[in-house]
Order: sequence, then structure tokens, then C-alpha cells
Amino acid sequence: MMQNSKILIEGRKRLEGSVSISGAKNAALPELAAVVLSSGKFSFSNVPRVKDIHVLLKALKNIGAEFQLTGSTVDIQLDTLRSGLVPPEIVETTRASVLLLGPLLARHGYARVSMPGGCPIGDRKINYHIDGLEKMGASFRFEEGYIIAEAPRLQAIDFQFPGKTVTGTENLLMAAVLAEGTTTLRNCALEPEISDLVQLLTAMGAEIQSDDPETLVIKGKSSLDGATHCIIPDRIEMGTYVVAGCLENNEIKIENAAPHYIDSLLDILKEMGCAIQVDADSMIVRSCGELRPVRVETEPYPGFPTDLQAQLTTLLTQANGTSQVVEHIFDNRFQHALELNKLGADIRLEGNTAIINGKTSFAGRDLLATDLRASAALVLGGLIADGETVVHNAYQLFRGYENMPEKLQKLGACVKIIDS
Ligand code: EPZ
Repeated sequence: MMQNSKILIEGRKRLEGSVSISGAKNAALPELAAVVLSSGKFSFSNVPRVKDIHVLLKALKNIGAEFQLTGSTVDIQLDTLRSGLVPPEIVETTRASVLLLGPLLARHGYARVSMPGGCPIGDRKINYHIDGLEKMGASFRFEEGYIIAEAPRLQAIDFQFPGKTVTGTENLLMAAVLAEGTTTLRNCALEPEISDLVQLLTAMGAEIQSDDPETLVIKGKSSLDGATHCIIPDRIEMGTYVVAGCLENNEIKIENAAPHYIDSLLDILKEMGCAIQVDADSMIVRSCGELRPVRVETEPYPGFPTDLQAQLTTLLTQANGTSQVVEHIFDNRFQHALELNKLGADIRLEGNTAIINGKTSFAGRDLLATDLRASAALVLGGLIADGETVVHNAYQLFRGYENMPEKLQKLGACVKIIDS
């Protein structure tokens, strides 16, 4: 997709039918990074075909990996590391290249990763990652926009994360599996993508225990094997289509799902009066007319996820009354609100709280997608707007949603991609 593609939406079409959920981007990213830890062969199935994954595969090729992409299966092997360099063009589009730090240090003793660029949703520090890796024996220096890290052999540590960090937990976990001795990581994040990574590492021969879910105990090994792994469904994509099903008079069946990953969203939607039928790996969502306003606060998993905050905000503009959304994770994650107001929403920002007055009707406008999840919220807004909505910077959407326009068209939406 061109950087300057846009999405045209002709709103007010009823959505009905079924949508199949793709693999989780935020599980596939650390799991592909884990390939660096072994010279063995890997086969990943249910890999989402999204931009961030393609960029990380390019980074892996750059350091010596060979891979084949067939549909949603990636066969990949990195038997000889060519270099520890991850160039800027890789990092600029996805911050996930930071996930190569731990594996490169563990396998290679050296990493040179371009500093992650700025991020529209807020300050994305990595001090917990660096602090933990330094305690494991790595030394860091920062030169010409690169993070350069070196470590003779990583040593086991007993480390408490000062705050919940998803990729910080993943980075140190991947460093620990080849470190000398037994590492204990405390106050780990609990996202399902981390448990999926633990499953992969265990299949590779790593020894990881976790009597209490927030504590991981890792007995370092001298080497690890390749593995075959099926990636879990994407809970954020799932939540996005659940919200779409609650809009107007839609009825959507969501398949290849894992409903228990989004219990926090389902509880909120029940409070709003939405009718959702939940089975083991599918859900049927139908809107139920009158939506009640709610107050929502984003929290680390299993709390309400910040990655669904923008999408839920779009739905809250259709509730009768005043809702509040409090964003605790990132300090600038309300840019979608300003764009939704162009459609006709009535959202006021007060610090880390968005106050949403509903119910408002939407008229199509030109909108600007500022980040991945904001772009999904704007597409949902376009679906319920009279007339045509154009979402510019649509590449943001393609970073993390597999074939969203096509999946929406199959449900009856009128959505087109324009590569200008
Ligand atoms: C992961 O980002 C996800 N990305 C994000 O999804 C998600 O929003 C985020 O977790 C929170 O759930 C991937 O998994 C690839 P954090 P991550 O470290 O790991 C602060 C999407 O849309 N912090 O959990 O970068 C940090 O500033 C993306 O798919 C430190 O202060 O997030 C933030 O305020 C967006 N120091 C908070 O913790 C650190 O060393 C949570 O960050 C690390 C984090």
C-alpha cells in the first residue's frame, strides 16, 4: 500500500454476515523476533498479513534470516547471523524492532538498532528494557540515532519491572532464555500475547515457570531449537469488529475468535445494553437500538485495553447521554476524538479524560488517521455517517489490520481503497 493511500466509505449500509479474525499482530512480532534465538527451522501459521509484520520480516532478512511466506504461513530460519544491524527504514515504520534487542544480545552479544522514532500516541519509553538488559550485563551507548548494545554473555537476574510493559516483558524474557543461570522477572505484563510467546519459547526447549502469573522464572539454556507454532487470534481486531456489530442495526458473526480475551470489552458493552452471544471461538453481535452511556478507564490486561479505546469512543458517540473515557496508559491517545468531532461527534478533552455527549448523527467528511487504532475508529465513524467519508493516511490501518476494507465489504459496507 502506498504511504498516501486513503479509504473511501459510503456510510449507513447495514452490516451483516460473518467475519474471520486473523492472527494477532502483537503476538507475531515478538515470536518472529524469537527466531533470532535459534539456528533451527520455524514454521508459523495464522500470521497476519499486515505491514508491521512485513517490515519485521525485512529486518530479520537484513540480519541473515531466510523465509518463505505462503498465505498466512511463514517458514523461517536464521542459522547464521549476518549482522546485528537493524537500519532506520525498518524502525521508522514499526517500533517493534525494539523487540530484537533482547534476542540479538542473547544469541549474538551485539545489537545495533535504530532509535525508535516518535510515536503519535505518546511517549514510548524503553528505560525498563534497557535497565533490565544492563543488569543482565549488557552495555549500551547511543550514537547517530542508534542504540548500540553489547554483552559477553547475559547473566541471570532477579528483576522487578517498575511498571507494566508488554514489550519490556517480552524483551527480557527472550534475553533470559539463553542467559547463564535462572532469571526471575517480577511484575510482568499479563497480555495473552506474552503467554503465547511463553508457549513458543517452551516449544523451542526453553524452561519457563510461572507459579504466579506476574512472575516468570526462566532457567537459561545454552541453545534452543526451532519450532512450529500457530499464532493466537488478534483480540484487538476482534474487539474492533464487535464494536462494528454494535453500531446502528448491524448483526455480525465473528469467527476464529477467542472471546475470553476481550471480557473487559464485553462487560462494558453489556452495561451499554448490547446483545452479544458468546461461544467458545465465535460471537454473534447485534446492535440493540438504545445504547446507554458508560465510564471506561484503560488498564493493563486484563483491564480494558488502551488499543480498543479509540474504537469504543466511536460507539460511545451513539449512546444516549454523557460517557467518559479515561486513558491511563499513553499520554496522547485522543487524536481520533478531534477527527470524530469533524463527523459530528461532541467530544471534549479534559487532561486524560474524553467526555462524550451522545447521541450525535454523523455526516461524511475528510478525516486524517494519526495512528493505527485511531484509523480503525475513523473507519467505524465513516460506516455510520451520511454520505462519503475519506480517511487519509490509510497506511496506518494497513499496519495492523489484515484486509479490513475487504472484510467490511464482505459484511455489506461500501468501502474502497484509493492509492493516490
Ligand atoms: C505494546 O506496546 C503494544 N505493542 C501496544 O499496541 C499497546 O498499546 C501497549 O503494549 C499497551 O498495551 C506491541 O505489543 C507491539 P508498554 P509497548 O511497554 O510494549 C510506559 C498497537 O496498537 N513504559 O506496555 O510499547 C510506556 O511509556 C500498539 O498494536 C515506560 O515508561 O507498551 C507506556 O506509557 C500501540 N518504560 C506504558 O509504559 C518502558 O521501558 C505501557 O507501555 C516501557 C514502557
